[in-house]
Amino acid sequence: MAVAACGSSGSESGSDGGGSGGGDDSITMGFSQVGAESGWRTANTKSVQESAAKAGITLKFSDAQQKQENQIKAIRSFVQQRVDVIAFSPVVESGWDTVLKEAQNAKIPVILTDRAVDSKDTTLYKTFLGSDFIEEGKKAGQWLVEEYKDATGTVNIVELQGTTGSAPANDRKEGFAEVIGADPKFKVIASQTGDFTRAKGKEVMEAFLKSNPDIDVLYAHNDDMGLGAIEAIEGAGKVPGQDIKIITVDAVKDGMQALADGKINFIVECSPLLGPQLMDLAKKVVKGEQVPARVVTEETTFTQEQAEQVLSTRQY
Ligand code: AHR
Repeated sequence: MAVAACGSSGSESGSDGGGSGGGDDSITMGFSQVGAESGWRTANTKSVQESAAKAGITLKFSDAQQKQENQIKAIRSFVQQRVDVIAFSPVVESGWDTVLKEAQNAKIPVILTDRAVDSKDTTLYKTFLGSDFIEEGKKAGQWLVEEYKDATGTVNIVELQGTTGSAPANDRKEGFAEVIGADPKFKVIASQTGDFTRAKGKEVMEAFLKSNPDIDVLYAHNDDMGLGAIEAIEGAGKVPGQDIKIITVDAVKDGMQALADGKINFIVECSPLLGPQLMDLAKKVVKGEQVPARVVTEETTFTQEQAEQVLSTRQY
């Protein structure tokens, strides 16, 4: 049954009948997703929807199309519908206190999934499940430092940032800068947002290539932007992975294929398979049980050789 979100421009689906007024054990979760900007996001949505069905949790799913205002409307709609628990992946870090306070006043627990908020009041949410994005940025930087350990000249780096103001964009930039900042030969000569999309990654890389003839390395905050940039690099007559070394984050199938093909040099994994843990946490918070304040996702990294080995068994 399709249910229109109150004032939301995102889609929302699920069945009615849950909510704290139900007086039974059934759980209804309102889930506000960022959008459908990347392969990672598509895999994350699938994981959440499949895990909810498996756990017997009724899911009211709303797609915010990368807009904070749509997420705020969706959360308000979930509060009005008196769902049992709200989970959301905040598109940006700031500006959530008012709406989270409204959920808290309505006694509806909130779980942050994938991305963090910068609210000082940590009682506004029960737990935060997701990756350590600073660590991901550090892993990207560590590979680069090792790869260029014998280089004597300047290493010119361009950076494709994720969505401006989002936790993964802020943290992946910070972690990377911290590691490469220890050696002055590493120079970030251009850094701009590609909004985590393939189209924007291509567009921004085209502009980088026009204004910077000597790019050695591209660091893209996700695979999709890296894949868009590969098209731009090839369009400029250069060989991705050789003329320009490429580091990305996520390790979705298309990214891993490009890594195995030699077009990307290194990928830091960011797992989108958060659904099962999210449903477990939701059941606990609805029962009023204690949950850890932070649940960090386990992740690895991939070289070109490792990508070849695991490609056929990748789940997403
Ligand atoms: O928040 C996770 C990030 O969001 C992923 O790395 C990126 O692909 C997605 O859009």
